Amino acid sequence: MKEEDKEKGQLISELAELRQRAAVLEASETKHKRTEDELQRRLKELSSLHDISTIVTSSFDLEHILGEVFTNAVTVLEAETGSLMTLDEKHQSLTIKASRGLKKEVISRTRVRLGKGICGWVAQSGQPVLLKNRVTDPRFKPIVRKPQIKHAICAPLKYKEKIMGVINLNRESSARPFTEEDLRLLSTVAYEIAAAIQNIKLYNELRTTITELEQANKEIKQAQASLIQSEKLASLGKLAAGMAHELNNPLGAVSGRAQLLLMDMDKDKDLQAIKNLWTIVEQTTRASKIVGNLLQFAREAKQEVEPVDINPVIEKSISLTRHQISLENVELSMELKPDLPRIMGDQNQLQQVFVNLITNAWEAMPDGGKLTISTGLLQESLLIKVTDTGHGIPKENLGKLFDPFFTTRETGTGLGLSIIHGIIEAHNGTIKAQSHLGQGSTFTVKFPVIKQES
Ligand SMILES: Nc1ncnc2c1ncn2[C@@H]1O[C@H](COP(=O)(O)OP(=O)(O)O)[C@@H](O)[C@H]1O
Ligand SMILES: [Mg+2]
Repeated sequence: MKEEDKEKGQLISELAELRQRAAVLEASETKHKRTEDELQRRLKELSSLHDISTIVTSSFDLEHILGEVFTNAVTVLEAETGSLMTLDEKHQSLTIKASRGLKKEVISRTRVRLGKGICGWVAQSGQPVLLKNRVTDPRFKPIVRKPQIKHAICAPLKYKEKIMGVINLNRESSARPFTEEDLRLLSTVAYEIAAAIQNIKLYNELRTTITELEQANKEIKQAQASLIQSEKLASLGKLAAGMAHELNNPLGAVSGRAQLLLMDMDKDKDLQAIKNLWTIVEQTTRASKIVGNLLQFAREAKQEVEPVDINPVIEKSISLTRHQISLENVELSMELKPDLPRIMGDQNQLQQVFVNLITNAWEAMPDGGKLTISTGLLQESLLIKVTDTGHGIPKENLGKLFDPFFTTRETGTGLGLSIIHGIIEAHNGTIKAQSHLGQGSTFTVKFPVIKQES
């Protein structure tokens, strides 16, 4: 019997030991399961954070980034509703940039003031919030009353202490509440978003600066080109004035003597001599004309500046050149806009500008064509366009047109355009040439109009 008892006792203790071992095993299995769950969750979080950082660095489209990141956060944190709002600093309020479970009209209408509701409170304090029972919390009034919403987390979009908005997620009462870890994850996501907003802001500022710099650079280049042109003209002007003076007298003398000789000639006997003398007179007259042009070019232009209506100036210029134009089978089209504002200018000089442009256009159409002159207003400038259907200007010549003495015509002086360039510049205007070889050219002149003429 004793033996039996002993055996029984041993069995009991073995059983107890087995039970104990089983309990230990079970406990460790539960622990193991918990660790595995935890690991799975962490893995999900990490992969979501990885996705988010990929999204925020993938583009400079803020709206797209906010939408994608928000959807990602909603999924990984298993939220039913929520919103991402950014701070409108001027109005000290939050507006919705991405959301889940909100109606369109609510999204566009909602402006959450700082300090109001859970989001307003987080935006003001800069502190994240975890609410286990949102509806009953007296501090916060939700944007939309949804009794089924119970649990909420909200984190500020904060970068270097600067608050740019908030992200808020909610779960319904049937779901499990958010944990501190959920809030930590949301805060990390919020930081990523804030950094992205900051980056894009910097990027846009940089882009604006670059555009401004490019514009400034362009203006400097234009100013430089114009300065070079003026300098060229000024130094040339001095030279030309001196030369013209020196040339005028001998030219006059040659022409005078030739004319005297002509008077003594016998028409029947000296035909060849008469022809030769006529050539001398013609050529000296032409040389005098060039010299006259040079003088005009060199003269320190004394302007008689007054308010000028441009259309009559153009009409006068046309009438001065009309006989040439009609003779040469050139069709004339005038598109003068009525009631244009006036410009400050010297009538005579302005007339010279258009006579020159019209003459050039006419000379470019030896076989006839169409000459169009139009006036109009563009912002605060008068635009005058002189267009011909002539032979056009080769690209390589476009940059030289306004250089003194640049000419492609046998009888040209190359001074017309450089003189009018000077005149236009003295009127604070600009002139530009456009041309298609074989199709024609357009010269566009621009003058500032008088502002608020009384
Ligand atoms: N409307 C035009 N069509 C074609 N070429 C032109 C026109 N206007 C000017 N040009 C070119 O510009 C050159 C310079 O013109 P300009 O200074 O008036 O001098 P010029 O008329 O004495 O040649 C001309 O020789 C010609 O080659
Ligand atoms: Mg000319």
